[in-house]
Amino acid sequence: PEESNAAATSQITNNAAFEAKKGKKRKRKADTAAGAELAPSSPEKRQKSQQSHRNQQRKSNQEARPQALPSNGNGAPHLLRRRDELLKTRKALPIWPHADSIREALRKNNVMVLTGETGSGKSTQVPQFLTSEPWCTETIAITQPRRVAAISLARRVAEEMGSLFGKQSPAAKVGYSVRFDNACGPETKVKFLTEGMLLQEILRDPEMNQYSAVVVDEVHERSVNVDLILGFLRNLVSEIEKGGSKRKQPLKVVIMSATADVEGLVKFFDEGFGNGAERSKKETQDEIEDHTTKQNDLISTCFVEGRQYPVKTHYLPEPTMDWVESALKIIFKIHYKEPLPGDILVFLTGQDKIESLEKLINDYAEGMEKEMPKLLPLPLFAALPQYAQQRIFEPTPRHARKVILATNIAETSVTVPGVRFVIDCGKSKIKQFRSKLGLESLLAKPVSKSASIQRKGRAGREAPGQCYRLYTEPDYATLEERTKPEILRCDLVQAILTMKARGVNDVLNFPFLDRPPIEALKEALFQLLRLGALKADGTVSDIGLKMSKLPVTPKLGRIILEAGRPERDCLLDVIDIISALSSDDSIFFNIVTEEKKEQAEEARRNLYRREGDHMSFLTTVQQYAEEHSDRRAWCDRHFVSHRAMQNVMNIRKQLRQQCQTLKLLTPSDLTADVTSSPNSDAILASLLRGFISNTARLCPDGSYKTFLGNHTVAIHPSSVLHGRKVKAEAIVFSEFLYTNKAYAKKVSAVQMNWIEDAMEEAFDI
Ligand code: CDP
Repeated sequence: PEESNAAATSQITNNAAFEAKKGKKRKRKADTAAGAELAPSSPEKRQKSQQSHRNQQRKSNQEARPQALPSNGNGAPHLLRRRDELLKTRKALPIWPHADSIREALRKNNVMVLTGETGSGKSTQVPQFLTSEPWCTETIAITQPRRVAAISLARRVAEEMGSLFGKQSPAAKVGYSVRFDNACGPETKVKFLTEGMLLQEILRDPEMNQYSAVVVDEVHERSVNVDLILGFLRNLVSEIEKGGSKRKQPLKVVIMSATADVEGLVKFFDEGFGNGAERSKKETQDEIEDHTTKQNDLISTCFVEGRQYPVKTHYLPEPTMDWVESALKIIFKIHYKEPLPGDILVFLTGQDKIESLEKLINDYAEGMEKEMPKLLPLPLFAALPQYAQQRIFEPTPRHARKVILATNIAETSVTVPGVRFVIDCGKSKIKQFRSKLGLESLLAKPVSKSASIQRKGRAGREAPGQCYRLYTEPDYATLEERTKPEILRCDLVQAILTMKARGVNDVLNFPFLDRPPIEALKEALFQLLRLGALKADGTVSDIGLKMSKLPVTPKLGRIILEAGRPERDCLLDVIDIISALSSDDSIFFNIVTEEKKEQAEEARRNLYRREGDHMSFLTTVQQYAEEHSDRRAWCDRHFVSHRAMQNVMNIRKQLRQQCQTLKLLTPSDLTADVTSSPNSDAILASLLRGFISNTARLCPDGSYKTFLGNHTVAIHPSSVLHGRKVKAEAIVFSEFLYTNKAYAKKVSAVQMNWIEDAMEEAFDI
């Protein structure tokens, strides 16, 4: 160990010397870049600030460079070796030369809008550029739309900083926080978290005192949560600017996006500052004069140019209905005609299409000549476990070609190295709120022009590439210019509850980047009233406040609160069910072959309950929890996914803890065993309180029609109630799926009078 210690030290010294030599050169270059790319401040202000900044900068440049990081408890030799190894890669990233100008801009202004192509290094480098800045006394938060990205970025940045990560040690400098999994410690300086988690934190601490900076990443995805975060941040920074905040230190906000929507974002924040009209009380006189002349002086912008080689576009001559087959043909055409290396990235709509294309590729590849290079299909979708996602980053073996089969997750949030060919089906599944049904569904829809340009761009990262669009050129011309932000097309119940809980009563006047339609806002307010989350005057109720603090949807939150009432008294059981509903993976995985299907049905028989899927989930969770010898074998015997069950148990533990915090459970409940005979009536009545809009009644023709809206829904084939001879008079379902027709998924049989009772309570406001 001594030897490797010495080696690591000498490497650091060498690097430091190398950096010192290069430092001056880079500084000069960065200054020019800053001049060109950052919104210019007035010449007077620049001159004044330059002197003091120069000293600060020199100091912090040295601190900020990774080789100057103090060797702390994290600095084990192998970590430092890896850190130094990665430094070379980091220096080659397009964002690296911008480090100084980014730091300088953020010393001057509190808000920055930064755009740069996927893979230019925004997510991994920006937080590291900032950790040693003089204003950075607390943690830096970086939000991510997806859990996988938050966790894998945290791991990567920890490696680059030579630090441990997450739960490895309380001294870890890099952590993450995602739903049901918080891996941060007292030393965490860089924290990756999902947008939902940041919103929860904002509810607890509206001034965000634990952070020196909030970096909002992947803003172009325009999730509802990111739009809410932007609104809250805009209010907070303008409050700080006006001197109305109690924060001890400034809050730096960096908005990062892969597409150039800079103007809109700058305008949005600028309006928050009152267009430069109302200035900070803390400023000196000449700064005030300076600001009045420069409207955008509070916001910097930075554009990082990615590397892009030309990409040739091919269209289909005729439209196709079967683009899985078209993709298959093109994959083999490329494989036979184009030389190696050159991996293929195929954009498909979802897991089902990905899996069928994967199977087809494997089948056809068996017929290839022996001397042909291998084809390696690799699926990539959000619900895929992390270890499987990581496979796409592994180098392509010699004499082989990777074929990555991805959803739009690879459009902007993941960089896949080695790709020269893109095949784009031109569609993606998007969340769509069907206001007539009052339900949300995922539908495959044509992508926007900007999304198809992003997809095409994936082929030209490392060399010239080719893009095959599985639609015609005239069809391309009909595509929408931009993807519609989620807030304009989805259910807003959760968003409005978050706003109400945060004290925003006048939701119509909240600073939305895009204002959602008034009907959608009203519908969300009605839903919240029905759930009892709002009082009649529209302010949040005690129940609503508790719901907003639970890491589940408002409907599930309401069910938890209902189950905790003394007259229901079934909270532990309901937590078991909600844990099963909240797991990403299915507990009962899909079985493909008929023969296996029969076996599985037989094996699962003692888990199924006549009341329906929810009680069957409860039985499964309880039996699994009681199995202490070999849980994996138990899962194998019952055709149950072990991975899903591990996940369920983790969620169950966390939900129990959360309920204890809200005083719905006592500390002894945390380790309580399963209930010997669960009260299914109380459980289903609790479910109804949350899922009142997901109910349907049996009609004389044998179909089910929803109570609200009177729409036909069929029981999904995956339900234990599917195909029953004796049909229940009414059903409640926790999922809605719209494919060729409307399906109720995860269904339970209930009595008509229970629904009537629940309706009465919901509508009697
Ligand atoms: O945020 P942006 O898309 O601009 O880039 P990034 O996520 O910071 O990625 C920069 C580089 O880091 C990529 O080219 C990847 O090779 C690498 N990276 C990685 O190896 N593992 C990760 N989990 C994230 C990034």
